[in-house]
Amino acid sequence: MITRLRAWADTHTSEGRWSPVAITFHWTMAALVLFQLVWGWWTSGIPVGGDKVAAYQLHADVGLLILLLAVLRAIWRLMIPGPVNDADDPGWESTVSRITHFLFYIFIVGLPLSGWLMLSATAPEMQLMLGGVIPAPRLPVGTLSQEGLWQVQWAAERIHFFMIWGITFLIMGHVAAVLKHYVFDKDNVLPGMLPLVDELEGEPIEIIPESDEEEMPRTKTLRRSDRRKADD
Ligand code: HEM
Ligand code: HEM
Repeated sequence: MITRLRAWADTHTSEGRWSPVAITFHWTMAALVLFQLVWGWWTSGIPVGGDKVAAYQLHADVGLLILLLAVLRAIWRLMIPGPVNDADDPGWESTVSRITHFLFYIFIVGLPLSGWLMLSATAPEMQLMLGGVIPAPRLPVGTLSQEGLWQVQWAAERIHFFMIWGITFLIMGHVAAVLKHYVFDKDNVLPGMLPLVDELEGEPIEIIPESDEEEMPRTKTLRRSDRRKADD
C-alpha cells in the first residue's frame, strides 16, 4: 500500500512538485491557521459575555480540526517524501527552511493541544466539538485540585501565547522566503506547491478551423488527461 502510494506521489515529486495530497493539506491548513490567528485575536478583544463564549467555541472547534489534520499530515509527510527542488540547494537557506517546516509541525500540534488543555482545566462545562461535528472529550485533568487546575491553565496559556507569536513570525519568514524564490530566483518552489499548474501545462497543438473561412491557426494547451487519451 505505502509502496503504491509512494509510486503515485513520485509521478508528481519527480517533476519537482508536491503531491496533490500534500498540496491539499498545505493550503487547507494555511487557511485554517490564518483564520485561527485572526479569529483568536478578535475574540480576545470582545467583551465578556455570550458572544465571547460562542466565539471561543468556534475557535476551539476549528483548532481541534487543525490538530486532527496536523496528525494526518505528519503521518503522510513521514511516509511520502516531498520533491527535491530549488529550495534544497545545499547551504544555510535550505537548512533554515527545513527547521521552519519542522517548527510548523510542532506549532500546529502544540497550539491546539495547549488550547485544549486550557479549556479542559477552566471550562469543563464547555462541550468541545472537533470541526463543530464530532464531540471531543475533556483532557484528563479532572482529578487535579483547584490549585493544580490553575497551574495547568497558567502553563498552557503561556505555551499557547508563545506558539502564537512563534507561528506568526514563522509565517512571515516563510512567505518572504517563498516570494524571494518566486520574484528574484524565478525557480520552481512556489509553482511546486500550487494546485493545477501542472495540469494546465502541455504541448501546444494546432487547431484546424472547421469552416472554409480564412482563419489563423490557433494554439491550445492540451490537458494531461487529454494527452493520455490521445496516447491510447
Ligand atoms: C492552530 C490552532 C490555534 C491557533 C493558531 C490559536 C490562536 C489563538 C489566538 C491568536 C488567541 C488570542 C491570543 C491573545 O489573546 O492575544 C488564542 C486564544 C485562546 N485560544 Fe487558541 N489557537 C489555536 C487553537 C486553540 C484550540 C484548539 C483551543 C481550545 C480547544 C484554543 C483555546 C484558546 C483559548 C481558551 C484562548 C484564550 C486564552 C486566554 O485569553 O486566556 N485555541 N488562540
Ligand atoms: C499558516 C500558514 C502556513 C503554514 C503553516 C505552512 C506550512 C508549510 C510546511 C510545513 C511546508 C513543508 C511542506 C510540508 O511538509 O507539507 C510548507 C511548504 C511550502 N509552503 Fe507553506 N505554509 C503556510 C503558508 C504558506 C503561504 C501563504 C505560502 C505562499 C506564499 C506558502 C508556500 C509554500 C511553498 C511554496 C512550500 C514548498 C517549499 C518547498 O518546496 O521546499 N506557504 N509550508
